[in-house]
Amino acid sequence: MDTRFIHNTHSSRCEYKTENESNSGDEERSSKYSFVSALCMSGGEGDNSYSTNSLLQRRAIAKAKPVLVKNIKELMMDLNFPKYIKVADLGCSSGQNTFLAMSEIINTINVFCQNWNQTPPEIDCCLNDLPNNDFNTTFKFIHSFKEKNLTCKGPYFVSGVPGSFYSRLFPRKSLHLVHSSYGLHWLSKVPEGLEKNKMSVYITDLSPLSAYKAYLKQFQRDFTTFLKLRSEEMVSNGRLVLTFIGRNNMDNPLHRDCCHFWKLLSKSLHDLVIEGFVSASKVNSFYMPFYDPSKEELKEIVGIEGSFEIKDLEEHEYDLGHCNQDQSKRSKSGQNEANYIRAVSEPLLVAHFGNAIINRLFSKFAHHVSQHAGCRNKTTIVYEKQTLVLTNELNNKILAVHCKSKDDDLGNHFLSVGQSQEYKFRDNLWLTTLFWCHMWQGPDFKIHQVFEAYRSEWSKYVGYTYWIGREDGIYFRHEPHGLPLVKK
Ligand SMILES: C[S@@+](CC[C@H](N)C(=O)[O-])C[C@H]1O[C@@H](n2cnc3c(N)ncnc32)[C@H](O)[C@@H]1O
Repeated sequence: MDTRFIHNTHSSRCEYKTENESNSGDEERSSKYSFVSALCMSGGEGDNSYSTNSLLQRRAIAKAKPVLVKNIKELMMDLNFPKYIKVADLGCSSGQNTFLAMSEIINTINVFCQNWNQTPPEIDCCLNDLPNNDFNTTFKFIHSFKEKNLTCKGPYFVSGVPGSFYSRLFPRKSLHLVHSSYGLHWLSKVPEGLEKNKMSVYITDLSPLSAYKAYLKQFQRDFTTFLKLRSEEMVSNGRLVLTFIGRNNMDNPLHRDCCHFWKLLSKSLHDLVIEGFVSASKVNSFYMPFYDPSKEELKEIVGIEGSFEIKDLEEHEYDLGHCNQDQSKRSKSGQNEANYIRAVSEPLLVAHFGNAIINRLFSKFAHHVSQHAGCRNKTTIVYEKQTLVLTNELNNKILAVHCKSKDDDLGNHFLSVGQSQEYKFRDNLWLTTLFWCHMWQGPDFKIHQVFEAYRSEWSKYVGYTYWIGREDGIYFRHEPHGLPLVKK
């Protein structure tokens, strides 16, 4: 998996203090890396908030949807359509993403029960995050959440559960389904033994191997604790659906590519050291409480801990292809990326460095992103344009076509033989775009077919989908070119 995050200065309701302001009596705050206690995403709904800047995480939720849906259905069968089901979203943060996964879960359970002629269960929806999280903003979205679930027949109840998922959160054997997206790469603390990892907030190619080992050890401890606690809280046959930022380079555990977000953050901090805004010693005492495990590391921890069995393990890569952007688009990509990273790291940075450097730091960050072609490829989350192409390959007949989505009617078109009609559009934010197309041919256009022509879930095949009307039926093909045509 890949990642990005967010934060806000003014409207943030995530409360944190700088180290100098913090209360030294508290054990956690008096520890070496006391800024970790400030971990949360930027609250509120302002320009720098997580709520405004969490498109990347939203996309990750959408990509993981098929696995989530599959596991919910299997769970319902395994539990023999229970009357009551308790679901937890761990690390829910604030804003609309929080309810996105929960909506999906509620709808899937309801539709599945309807399809099997079963009464839908009462659903207990528990939203968890650290106590610093802006739960107020989250619960403001409850209205749109309810609107999205209008078709649900069964009752559901939403509650907030503040606390660390590295501690017990729920009664024994009470949870049926646990979902967590983009939370578990956050560690409970900065690992010990990073002193030799100079001028870098995370592992880089230049780090000593001991830095990698220290991070891995902390992740192993944290994730093992997480699994053990969940195994106590969950019923047998329960399901965990977890999405992390991970890495896929096994050969060199230190390698992170040139535009890895923490590398760019370190680079931006170096600029501020050179310009005299921050001291080198301050930078040398700041490390991200974060780890991006490989698939193999995850499998090993799950195996050794022993409470859970892995049913599905998927990797997704973001490679959004923005190589040939002109200058204005490049700086926009840089700004977007800076906003994502700011929204997830500002509370930690403010707690350690103070407020004054933040704007300057992220304008450096945006500049560094825009200087790397590789970064632009990987870090921009503007949805690619999708193209739908309909072509007439009938024998000497006109083909009439008409495509529509919930929001767009693309109108009627009459195609002569060999002619194509092309439509360009972008996926909606929720990645639920769905286009239906009609094709008519023959005398008085009486031969008619209607079909699903595009779904956001298919966007991994970006960006062309071709539909071809022939005498013996309708054929389709996704990008890339060279894939064979398939008859519908
Ligand atoms: C990047 S956000 C993801 C939010 C949401 N799940 C989404 O996909 O948009 C990660 C969230 O995990 C939370 N988090 C990190 N460590 C946590 C912990 N130990 N316990 C509970 N939540 C935690 C953070 O506060 C943050 O809100």
